[in-house]
Amino acid sequence: MTTLLQINASINNGNGESSRLANQFVAAFHKRHPKAAIVVRDVAAAEPVPHLNAERFGAFITKPEARSATQHAVVAYSDTLINELKQADVVVLGLPMYNFGVPSQLKAYFDHIARVGVTFEYTEKGPVGKLTGKKVYVFAARGGVYARDGVNHGIPVETQTNYVRDFLRFLGITEVEFIYAEGLNMGPQAKQAALAKAEAEIARLAA
Ligand SMILES: Cc1cc2nc3c(=O)[nH]c(=O)nc-3n(C[C@H](O)[C@H](O)[C@H](O)COP(=O)(O)O)c2cc1C
Repeated sequence: MTTLLQINASINNGNGESSRLANQFVAAFHKRHPKAAIVVRDVAAAEPVPHLNAERFGAFITKPEARSATQHAVVAYSDTLINELKQADVVVLGLPMYNFGVPSQLKAYFDHIARVGVTFEYTEKGPVGKLTGKKVYVFAARGGVYARDGVNHGIPVETQTNYVRDFLRFLGITEVEFIYAEGLNMGPQAKQAALAKAEAEIARLAA
């Protein structure tokens, strides 16, 4: 059975533009794959992922038999996030841009799923990701418009796309497609046009 994991990273409680576009894609996907299991993980609003600190990272690197009850709970939480991702064939990520980067809670989520020996391992050839065979669709919502052709028209070049791509590749996830809705805070016309373009892409992907 196909499993789809939808990760919402908007602070707007599932009502963010990124979540809305992700919802539309998931609805279209479900129509095509009625038997697919859909799992939703809201990392920023409903169940915010805590920041990684020395205590939490310490739990990851402590041997299982030496872990305290608190450390076991930290690892169990991380394992839950990882297993959800492991079981997914398709991952849909609603990705807002906040202050030029990914939401800090999404970074915290990434910090909880990057576990040596679990989701990646170090080899003589460098790190090798263990989460292979997945397809990821990223719905990136931005207030502004960014040059993605490497040309900076007086607008900051965005680093979010490469960061997310690099991180997922590190875990072994190489098939990543970005769908952008840009200029959402540049007036109603720009917003409407951006959402219409993203929706057309969703229709194309779902066809
Ligand atoms: C705190 C905050 C910071 C933002 N920073 C940026 C930014 O750096 N660049 C940008 O283009 N838009 C920025 N925006 C606009 C968001 O990208 C836009 O509202 C988008 O729809 C957010 O996704 P969401 O609706 O799914 O939460 C910011 C919005 C907020 C609330």
